[in-house]
Amino acid sequence: MAKKIKTLFYCSSCGHESSKWVGQCPACREWNTMVEAPLPARSGSSPYAGHSGTGPVSRRKPVPLSAVDEASEERFSTGFTELDRVLGGGIVAGSMTLLGGDPGIGKSTILLQAARNIAASGLDVVYISGEESLRQIKMRGKRIGAISDRLRFLCETDLDAVTDILREEKPRLAIIDSIQTMYSAQVQASPGSIAQIREATGILLRLAKEENISFFLVGHVTKEGNVAGPRVLEHMVDAVLYFEGDRYASYRVLRSVKNRFGSTNEIGIFEMRGDGLAEVMNPSEFLLNGRPHDASGSIVTCSMEGTRPLLLEVQALVSHVSYGYPRRQSTGTDINRISLLLAVMEKRLGIRTSEYDAYINLAGGIRQTEPALDLGIVMAVLSSFRNVPVDDHMIVFGEVGLSGEVRAVPMAQLRVQEAAKMGFTACVLPRSNLRRLEAPEGMRLLPVSSLAELVDYL
Ligand code: TYD
Ligand code: MG
Repeated sequence: MAKKIKTLFYCSSCGHESSKWVGQCPACREWNTMVEAPLPARSGSSPYAGHSGTGPVSRRKPVPLSAVDEASEERFSTGFTELDRVLGGGIVAGSMTLLGGDPGIGKSTILLQAARNIAASGLDVVYISGEESLRQIKMRGKRIGAISDRLRFLCETDLDAVTDILREEKPRLAIIDSIQTMYSAQVQASPGSIAQIREATGILLRLAKEENISFFLVGHVTKEGNVAGPRVLEHMVDAVLYFEGDRYASYRVLRSVKNRFGSTNEIGIFEMRGDGLAEVMNPSEFLLNGRPHDASGSIVTCSMEGTRPLLLEVQALVSHVSYGYPRRQSTGTDINRISLLLAVMEKRLGIRTSEYDAYINLAGGIRQTEPALDLGIVMAVLSSFRNVPVDDHMIVFGEVGLSGEVRAVPMAQLRVQEAAKMGFTACVLPRSNLRRLEAPEGMRLLPVSSLAELVDYL
């Protein structure tokens, strides 16, 4: 009798493991997400094994934190201050970072540029591509400039060959472009399948911790915007970065959604040029570039990305309903929030928003859902509704509550300062933020406590 192959089921959405198939995942309650994968042959080879260190488990003992050497976290710079900041201060030795993003957004480009900078600083880097030929990589390389010989390339999809080579070469950084193309013969599943991706990541993770090699994995993104394959990938790696932006516009935003070595609030802004990606040091200036003057429905607001204030333009267009019920459309912000704000306006300001279609756009393709944008959105809608432009040198921020009250937002001082720095002279803000706020020179603070008061500033 043939020996039965042992298999395991796990949820492709949350990674929950089960020994039998079930229709609904008991952990995340998603339907039809359980997939079958062969049980890895090696004993104790959970993808998490080796993650917490090597050596026999029995020999490890609990230690007090005071005995832990802080200085042991070794980092190196990518040569991009924006990328370093998103990573929490450079790449941690032996860490694994997943970089997700739509096709053509610039994942290969940014990693190639970072690899080039790291190689130029004297560290060995290996770039493994399963997607492009050496000639294609060379063509891209030509655009970004001279590349040191310390950066070497390998076109390979066989994971076992890749791990052998990396063990031999022991580079400081290895880039896998992309994890979906890697295939290990040890796993009985087709390339690109969830089982393969999961195992491949587990194998590389062990290698990273054992040989102290830092890894960057490129991951493709599904239509829903998650890294394709199992969400479990996100649980396994140390950091998850997303590269986003409109492919047809030149700016790109690098965002961290998970980081074991830093804050997840940081973003980096890049611009795609003819010679690769360039960092944008002053994002507010960049985002406000090309703003229309004296146009109704356009307003500048300030939102926070971590500790960084970002000035951005909110545009609103309202027009009479053309069909049955009103359309609400938004680019860059939460559509439900827009519906809510329009309902609040209808109830508290008596404006018949339900008779109008409303289109809201955060200019520059940036995505923001912070409540501090509320007041800016309301102001933009009001301005478009009445067809009155707002003062060009005014910014508006604040959270709007259901009863039309304007509520305080965090870090008001930073927002006001950023506005002053960019040449704005007036700021409409929540009255409750006024206490302990110092107005920068030349800045008029216009406090409001309700939407009714906001109308006065139009
Ligand atoms: P790429 O890094 O290949 O994207 P990904 O790996 O995320 O799929 O980026 C491809 C796009 O970037 C492509 O449309 C061409 C453009 N590009 C530039 O505009 N300038 C450049 O210097 C380079 C290298 C690419
Ligand atoms: Mg690519």
